[in-house]
Amino acid sequence: MSTTTYLTPDTVQTMQAAAAEVACQAGRLLREKFTQPRQIQLKGVRDLVTDADFAAQKLITDFVQARYPEHGFLTEEKDNRLPASGPVVWVIDPLDGTSNYSRQQPQFCVSIAAVSANGTPLCSAIYDPIRDELFSAARDQGCFLNGQTVQVSQVSDVAEALVCFDWNRLPHKQASILRLLQQIAPLVHSVRATGSAALALAWVAAGRMDAYFNFGLNAWDVAAARLLIQEAGGVISNLQGHPWQLSDGNCLAGSRLTHAALLAALAP
Ligand code: IPD
Ligand code: CA
Ligand code: CA
Repeated sequence: MSTTTYLTPDTVQTMQAAAAEVACQAGRLLREKFTQPRQIQLKGVRDLVTDADFAAQKLITDFVQARYPEHGFLTEEKDNRLPASGPVVWVIDPLDGTSNYSRQQPQFCVSIAAVSANGTPLCSAIYDPIRDELFSAARDQGCFLNGQTVQVSQVSDVAEALVCFDWNRLPHKQASILRLLQQIAPLVHSVRATGSAALALAWVAAGRMDAYFNFGLNAWDVAAARLLIQEAGGVISNLQGHPWQLSDGNCLAGSRLTHAALLAALAP
């Protein structure tokens, strides 16, 4: 079957419902474990993983494989049993904001995107289990927060903008972040750092933040939020201003106005 026949609006909508359902299931698991003792490991420089990350990922991949045995996976936690390719690839961060979670800070989420074999976004779900907030989108169908349509912020002056970013583990990227902050902080209302890229980006889609930037990300941090932001009328690009793709290691997102203003500030 060709990909075009396979991916009808109906099949994408069914996939969106599946993504939302399993994001909520995994989020409930994270919420149950939130206050319990954690097994925390260091998997890289300043990079933590907990037993809850693994448990949530297994729940999600088992669910998707049971429904869509022919689909592929791109997951944060390595699992050699999962196929990498298929007519649809599920891009999964089972727990975005692990450092926050490991310290019982309530800013984290489950992030799930389904993309076509060539990387086109199909549907997304980001679930914040602490606030019981489900952000979801399907291609050309809009962006929703708990079933209500949401849009990116409408601020008309960058001086009113709340700009969010995240710190980086690597010193040379930290230096770039500090340089950019020095340029933009005097121009905007204020800046924030949440510690969960996917949640911060979902908040940009819902108009709670006006922009977000990050100098070091992976596909699973951004894939679900990309569609939320696009469907909410915003812009998401890499730091060069090109439309964001799975292979980009950074991102800049916001309303048209704030995205353009920050991109200009980034110019050398
Ligand atoms: C991290 C968070 C953080 C971002 C890091 C990510 P994790 O994801 O999204 O906000 O700055 O780059 O790695 O490790 O908590 O899933
Ligand atoms: Ca992440
Ligand atoms: Ca993660």
